[in-house]
Amino acid sequence: MLAVLSLTQLSSFHGKDKEMKLRKPSRQSYGIVNAETVIIIAVIAIVAGCASNPTANRPEQEEPKENRLVIHTDKGKEKISRDIYGHFSEHLGRCIYEGIWVGEDSQIPNTRGIRNDVVEALKKIKIPVLRRPGGCFADEYHWKEGIGPRDQRPAMINTHWGGVTETNAFGTHEFLDLCEQLGCDAYIAGNVGSGTVEEMQDWVEYMTFDGDSEMANLRRRNGREKPWRVKYFGVGNENWGCGGQMTPEFYTDLYNRFQTYVRSYSGNRIIKVACGPGSIDYHWTQVVMEGAHRNMGAISLHHYVRGTGNWTQKGNATQFDEAEWFALMRNSLTIYPLLKNNIEIMDKFDPRGRIGLFVDEWGTWWDTEPGTNPSFLYQQNTLRDAVSAGIFLNAFNEHCHRVRMSNIAQTVNVLQAMILTKDEKMILTPTYHVFEMYKVHHDATLLPIALQCGDYQFGNEHISELNVSASRDQTGKIHISLCNLNPKNSTELACELQGIKTRNVSGRVLTADTMSAHNTFDKPQAVKPATFNGFRLEGDIITIELPSKSIVVLEII
Ligand code: AHR
Repeated sequence: MLAVLSLTQLSSFHGKDKEMKLRKPSRQSYGIVNAETVIIIAVIAIVAGCASNPTANRPEQEEPKENRLVIHTDKGKEKISRDIYGHFSEHLGRCIYEGIWVGEDSQIPNTRGIRNDVVEALKKIKIPVLRRPGGCFADEYHWKEGIGPRDQRPAMINTHWGGVTETNAFGTHEFLDLCEQLGCDAYIAGNVGSGTVEEMQDWVEYMTFDGDSEMANLRRRNGREKPWRVKYFGVGNENWGCGGQMTPEFYTDLYNRFQTYVRSYSGNRIIKVACGPGSIDYHWTQVVMEGAHRNMGAISLHHYVRGTGNWTQKGNATQFDEAEWFALMRNSLTIYPLLKNNIEIMDKFDPRGRIGLFVDEWGTWWDTEPGTNPSFLYQQNTLRDAVSAGIFLNAFNEHCHRVRMSNIAQTVNVLQAMILTKDEKMILTPTYHVFEMYKVHHDATLLPIALQCGDYQFGNEHISELNVSASRDQTGKIHISLCNLNPKNSTELACELQGIKTRNVSGRVLTADTMSAHNTFDKPQAVKPATFNGFRLEGDIITIELPSKSIVVLEII
């Protein structure tokens, strides 16, 4: 039996009736109504088990599927916000200190204390937005301790992350200087858990008010005449957990109160972000949306994945077998139903789609590297992490009508980092390279696609072998990002581009000989993108031979 599914349909399908309900003509991803759509609807019931449950048992004697991708290059309405490719830097372990901030007196080349090599690397992936100071740290951070002369700033205990001393050397001025050096937007996470309304109100006034006021004048005395532009402000972080152990009802009341005083001053329009759920907690989304939707510009979602089912043994970042590879691929695909179900709740209270879903923490979470402080969450990063990132980013692209920001955790030296540092050395991880390859999707138009593909089977479980999204940029170039989740087999895909006369195809690939390939300080270039020639163009069909365990980005003009 052949199955034809658009990725959006594949990701969102939980039952035929729901699929039909989602098919809104105004939404590009759902709006392809042609002969193919009829086939899609017809086959959905048959493949529902696979689509709604990626680990469903394979039916006996299923015929192998032919891989086929149709891209409607002349359709598409939704913009893939560049903020989907955003980042997150917490005062945690060696992310801020060492990873970003080395101080003005450091031997490591820096600009006003901020590492030049890290800034350059992040500029190359066109970092659009950076979130700080946490994370859990946000709800115990008191911003006034991080301004003024550095040698007079009080120290505090970073209770969440190892009980280490936080010197407050990196504060508001340093962070907003970093954003200006990077050319990215700032996303500040405010303190609801242990802070006050007045403290939050003062922070916004300090950063953004241009007139004559106590906070604006304090900023001036601290060396910054003009206000900064702060685009995003989060009202708390994980307030169901480290941010105060609140019920959704209690948080909703607090959110409504705190956000009242997060003002938009002097032409700076702040988008206020409510704390959303951690992975599957639809009750939280429901209660917060119901009680606070009128007062928010976005609601967050956090989703971490690993190769095992428990938090005490999350698995080794670099030593794993195919079972753990498969488990991460399967777990990464859970982002699809998670987005779909949260969006369905949002649609009830915000049918016009005003409110964004910001996945402002996501990524892989492994056991920390042996010999490092377990509270510092330092982990290596392999080709497996890169394919997982490729899946998440394709999912965000596919849901860009609601997902308007995401922030992978975290930028440097923590969790699924882009960059690892050791003293003056810096290496780029395989995940960094995915962000670099996918930057072609920034602010491009999402293209509707229909994918028919075979399964990657492991034991008695199976998942779709391929994961794809496509966009058209402002100059008309088409980009397709494709992940082959199968670590053993390459696979052929016939790609039909409807709506353009294809003249030229080029591509890049990220892959390696082993599943656990990664970059080290001794071998920093072990995993890096290469030119991809594994395709042929015949008429309007591009036949692509996707290597096993790979990410390929094609450019078509
Ligand atoms: O990213 C590490 C931690 O994960 C963050 O501080 C917290 O928000 C989440 O639980």
